[in-house]
Amino acid sequence: MEKGEDKHEEEQDQVVNPWEVTAKDGGKIDYDKLIDKFGCQRLEEPLVDRVQRLTGRPPHVFLRRGVFFAHRDFDEILNAYEKGKKFYLYTGRGPSSEALHLGHLVPFMFTKYLQDAFKVPLVIQLTDDEKCMWKNLSVEECQRLARENAKDIIACGFDITKTFIFSDFDYVGGWNNYFGNYINISPGIQVVGIFGFSGEDHIGKVGFPPIQAAPSFPSSFPHLFSGKDDLRCLIPCAIDQDPYFRMTRDVAPRLGYHKPSLIESSFFPALQGETGKMSASDPNSAIYVTDSAKVIKNKINKYAFSGGQDSVEKHRELGANLEVDIPVKYLSFFLEDDAELEHIKTEYGAGRMLTGEVKKRLADVLTEVVDRHRAARAAVTEEMVDAFMAVRPLPNMFD
Ligand code: TRP
Repeated sequence: MEKGEDKHEEEQDQVVNPWEVTAKDGGKIDYDKLIDKFGCQRLEEPLVDRVQRLTGRPPHVFLRRGVFFAHRDFDEILNAYEKGKKFYLYTGRGPSSEALHLGHLVPFMFTKYLQDAFKVPLVIQLTDDEKCMWKNLSVEECQRLARENAKDIIACGFDITKTFIFSDFDYVGGWNNYFGNYINISPGIQVVGIFGFSGEDHIGKVGFPPIQAAPSFPSSFPHLFSGKDDLRCLIPCAIDQDPYFRMTRDVAPRLGYHKPSLIESSFFPALQGETGKMSASDPNSAIYVTDSAKVIKNKINKYAFSGGQDSVEKHRELGANLEVDIPVKYLSFFLEDDAELEHIKTEYGAGRMLTGEVKKRLADVLTEVVDRHRAARAAVTEEMVDAFMAVRPLPNMFD
C-alpha cells in the first residue's frame, strides 16, 4: 500500500485535500507535517542541482525558491532521463471559475518551464465533469468554462506541437469503469480513507477519482503513446492533489505501468495571510489575471497582510516580520531577480525599508505579470483552442 494518510480529515488539525485547504487555528499550513502525513519526499537542493545539470538551464524560480517543495519519485524520472529515456507531463485544472487568479497560474507556468527544459509532451486535463458534480454547475456551463480556462492555459505559452488539452466530457470514454475495478469502497481504506467520502456523497463523486488517475497511464492516449506502455509520467501539481495520485500509484503496478512521479507545490497564499490557499470565492483575497494596474495596487495596499510594525518608529527599530509578510511572500514567487529579492528582505527585515515601498514594488511586479498574461490571452483564438484540443498525433513531441 502506498504510504499515506488513511484517517478521516476531521480528526486532523489541518485539513488539506482536493476540496479543502485549512490551516490549524488560523495559523500557517505546516508543510513539513504534510510531507510526513502524506508520505511524500522533500525536494532537496541536490535534486534541484541535478535538474540544472540535466537540462542545461537555470532552475525555475519556483524550483530554486522551494515553491515546488515535495515530490514522489522525481529522482526516478531524472535517472531514466539521464539514460536517454524521456517521459510525459500530465497536469490539469478544474474549470470552476471564469477568471483565473495568480495562484491558478503557478502550476501552469512551472509546467511550461518543465516542457521547455526537458523537451517532452504534455497532456492537460480539464475536469469539467468534476466541477459539474462538486459545484452543481450545469454541463454546458462547465464545458464553457473549460474552453475559457483553456485560453488562459494556452496563454502560458505551451508548445502546440507537444501539448494535448482535453476536456473530460469530450475525451473520456471508459476510463472510469476500467480503473475503478481496482478501487474498493470498503471503509477505512481506499476511496473512503483517501478522500473522506461518506454515505452522504453521491456515487458520481466516488466515480471521479479514477478519471483523474487515468491520464497517468500512457494507454489513455492511444493517438500519442500507442505501443509506449513503458513511458513514465511526471505530474506537476499543488500538494492538495496528492490523494488522487497516492491512489493511482497504488494501482499502477497491478495494471503493469510505472507509478506516476509527482512534483508538488505549496499554495499561493491569500492576500490576507498564509492560512490556506487563495480562494476564487472571495475576490478580495486574490489578484486575478483580469485585474487592472489600479485594482492590483488597491488590493495590495488594502488587503496584503503586512509583517511591518504599526508605527514608523517601531518599524525602524524592530524591522518587519518576514515570516508572515505577504508582499515579500508574493515577491518570492514573481520577482525573478535573486539579488533584488535578497536586498528587499535584508532592508525590510532590518526596518530600513518600509511596507509601503515593498508594496509598491510588488504592485509593479504583479502588474507586469498580469499585463503580459492578458496580452497573450487576447491573442488566443477559438481556432487555437480547437487545435490544442484536437485528438491528433504529435509527431515531434520528443524532439
Ligand atoms: N482536480 C484538479 C482541480 O480541481 C484538476 C486536475 C485534474 C489536476 N488532473 C490534474 C491538477 C492533474 C493537477 C494534476 O484543479
